[in-house]
Amino acid sequence: MIHVAPSLLSADFARLGEAVETVNRSEASYIHIDVMDGMFVPNITIGFPVIAAIGRLATKPLDVHMMVVDPGRYVEAVARAGAYLMNVHYEACTHLHRVISEIHAAGMKAGVTLNPATPVELLRDIVADVDLVLLMSVNPGFGGQKFITGTIDKVRRLKRLIEETGSRAVIQIDGGVNLETAPVLIEAGASVLVAGSYVFSAPDPVKAISDLSRLG
Ligand code: DX5
Ligand code: ZN
Repeated sequence: MIHVAPSLLSADFARLGEAVETVNRSEASYIHIDVMDGMFVPNITIGFPVIAAIGRLATKPLDVHMMVVDPGRYVEAVARAGAYLMNVHYEACTHLHRVISEIHAAGMKAGVTLNPATPVELLRDIVADVDLVLLMSVNPGFGGQKFITGTIDKVRRLKRLIEETGSRAVIQIDGGVNLETAPVLIEAGASVLVAGSYVFSAPDPVKAISDLSRLG
């Protein structure tokens, strides 16, 4: 089964509530929220009061993608804001094992995210402890970028690593996902697809989400 996580980054921020209600009406499995601090990535987006407001309106679980330096500082705040899953970047955590344990202790699912240049093999000693691995298929920071095709081979290698280590982690992809790029990602082993511009620039976002989720 394919799970779609629409990214609110491409929604109209002046009409965020309407975007959340659109996702509520759709076949999406999650709602993806991109937190950026202007340090780990060049852009700055939203913080905890906005996540909490989205959470009060959303009927889908919140998938919070932390593009911030040292995200372990914010585990409690993300949990209090109502997140179901907290995604932290491998590149941003000095003590990743500790952060993953803290995310679980705070009652959330834990995801680890890799930038395009970070090899999946670096996850060998942590992949059995996480619920999800997010592979970035663009350099994080902005919506609407071009899909990096090398991600497809990374998905295959990650799938092998997951099998070898007995991990139960699922594979999520973020960046440039649309009806052209999704089928090969699914075939390679991805099961959770984040989609921002594909969904929110579509004439009918509910249908766009449904079209993606029916690929699997
Ligand atoms: C980028 C964000 C993505 C972004 C994806 O740093 O992590 O979630 O919204 O946008 P699209 O789907 O337009 O590539
Ligand atoms: Zn994201």
